[in-house]
Amino acid sequence: MKQKLIAGNWKMNGSLAANEVLLQGVQQGLAQALNGKQAQVAVCVPVAYLSQVQQLVKGSGIEVGAQDVSAQEQGAYTGETSAAMLKDFAVRYCLVGHSERRQYHGETDEHVAAKAQRALSSGITPIVCVGETLAERDAGKTEEVVKRQLAAVIHTNGHCISEIVVAYEPVWAIGTGKTASPEEAQAVHAVLRAQLHAATEHADRVQILYGGSMNAANAAQLLSQPDIDGGLIGGAALKSADFLTIIAAAAR
Ligand code: 13P
Repeated sequence: MKQKLIAGNWKMNGSLAANEVLLQGVQQGLAQALNGKQAQVAVCVPVAYLSQVQQLVKGSGIEVGAQDVSAQEQGAYTGETSAAMLKDFAVRYCLVGHSERRQYHGETDEHVAAKAQRALSSGITPIVCVGETLAERDAGKTEEVVKRQLAAVIHTNGHCISEIVVAYEPVWAIGTGKTASPEEAQAVHAVLRAQLHAATEHADRVQILYGGSMNAANAAQLLSQPDIDGGLIGGAALKSADFLTIIAAAAR
């Protein structure tokens, strides 16, 4: 059985001191949360803390992720971080196309696809984020929007597409405390799975995560859906007890 992946997205939070406390808490409780079962665990941290976090999680089984990557390979791109640089810090995952990047930094579907391609070519697994806004959902466009966002990545990345992770994050559920119901989330995950099936014979091994106000109280129900293969966790990943409860709910 495919393991579930629980990835924390710290967003622009943390400090040297706070990161240490948080990761110590997670590591101390990890074996108990897994309870002899298995789940993959990652933390996607601000780039400034990659070195620190790489050291802190060494030997714990927790993987390191980044929150963004440049679409360029190298050169005169002030402020950007290349995939090769991330690789220097043993980064295993990189978020691409998070709705906050799409919204505040104008990232287009094509830009996101190029970032996914850079990650893949450096051996980093891109976690491709898709999701509709409330206006799009109300207009009945959820399926159209998420399929368009994923199609750009499939189109650009061709045969590598089974190597990605997908995260469905309805924008209206992010940081709002409003979560998609397990049935609503599953319905969109099934659409994404079907789209992956049309693109690759290995669609079943692609993990499709749900993100958007997943927390200690609702994780188990969301994670019990057939096409929900894990979670991308914002706020609840900043509290070790909550993050551990979600990991426990994912362990199989
Ligand atoms: P919250 O869990 O805080 O809603 O954030 C979700 C998210 O954006 C993870 O990438």
